[in-house]
Amino acid sequence: MTIYEIIRRKRDGSELKGAELEFLVQGFVAGDVTDYQMSAFLMATFFTGMTRGETETLVRTMLASGETVDMSSLAGPKVDKHSTGGVGDKLSFIAAPIAAAEGILIPMISGRGLGHTGGTLDKLESVPGLRTAFSPREFRDLVEDVGMAIVSQSSEIVPADRKMYALRDVTATVECIPLIVGSILSKKLAAGLDALVLDVKVGRGAFMDSLERGRELGRYLVDTAVRLGLRATAVLTSMDSPLGSAIGNALEMTESVDVLKGQGPMDVRETSIELAAHMIHLGGLSSDLGEARIRATAALDSGRALEVFTRFIVAQGGDPAFIDSPSALPTAPVVHEATAPVGGYIDSIDALEIGLTSVELGAGRLTMTGSIDRAVGIELLVSVGDHIEVGCPVARIHASDDSSNASAIVRVLAAIRIVDEPPTRVGRIIEIISQVG
Ligand code: URA
Repeated sequence: MTIYEIIRRKRDGSELKGAELEFLVQGFVAGDVTDYQMSAFLMATFFTGMTRGETETLVRTMLASGETVDMSSLAGPKVDKHSTGGVGDKLSFIAAPIAAAEGILIPMISGRGLGHTGGTLDKLESVPGLRTAFSPREFRDLVEDVGMAIVSQSSEIVPADRKMYALRDVTATVECIPLIVGSILSKKLAAGLDALVLDVKVGRGAFMDSLERGRELGRYLVDTAVRLGLRATAVLTSMDSPLGSAIGNALEMTESVDVLKGQGPMDVRETSIELAAHMIHLGGLSSDLGEARIRATAALDSGRALEVFTRFIVAQGGDPAFIDSPSALPTAPVVHEATAPVGGYIDSIDALEIGLTSVELGAGRLTMTGSIDRAVGIELLVSVGDHIEVGCPVARIHASDDSSNASAIVRVLAAIRIVDEPPTRVGRIIEIISQVG
């Protein structure tokens, strides 16, 4: 067996044997398979796909590249949520503390920014002092002490995903269902979960831009998770416009705290409550989803979720000062507003364009080892459906210098469509795909 043959067989659309996938993934983690060989394999998979059987083997092989964290001694349902990636998606920072406040244990292994979408770890690491690299034992202890932890893959936990994810990010091979399923489920199985709520994003700013593709990914994720022993539900949510107002690492942490304090954008609040409710329900702590929604809302409104969030930040080494003063997070030196060139109604805000502009400002990576600027980003000052006058501020750009600020203003204005008639407002939640179909 050679890597060349494996790549060629995948390129030609053959179904790979388990041993071939293992040889490839293990070799890549060990450094025997080069980045260019893995890139070729990923691109071949992007075009020819994988069978369900191959995908399951991929998940198992990626999982076996590291340790599985043993959470079995923890009393309580272990449930996580995972998003397929969007723009302005800070829901983990709100949904997880809500569900933890209700007794769910959340061992979350997250990823970094991918393509135009932001990464949970990149956002979290804008908190001074906060760590996301922990040993499996420390990870377990954090979950036991706080009820939740958000950590990175490492040389011990799913190293295959850490390396493949970073390579996919820079080789345009992200939007591929079997690779997404392999990446997400290997991480989730390594965390010793009982159940998983998947937030499958659909629309302009998502990796699945049509409802049909979103459904396909949601169904594929749920079916594969169940076959591998995890109870699962997928919630399809709209990602045509960015979620909430803040896009960029530190800015999104500030907005998460706003929502945990009962303020902040309604779409972030409602979607967080919905995902937390599914976590509570799938974890077996409510008799129906209606009751779970009521409990999730109460956990947020009573401040209990904010308390869990504060403990979680401190437990992971973070300075909690930003919870009361956002200026304790990194701030950008150049902040200017973009103003509406015409008056009218906001018809759409292109999430893809906003995500790409944020990456261009420096909030995301352009190469595998590239650094990011945690202070920069975009604050949207309007939402779809708002009525505005000409000259009204529509966005605030946080940049590292004048020239990147000026070019971001041009891109952001082009991404916001203003029309004469009010558009129909639609909610974020599209549909639920549950285990039983
Ligand atoms: N999130 C992941 O963890 N992996 C993907 O491939 C896409 C989104």
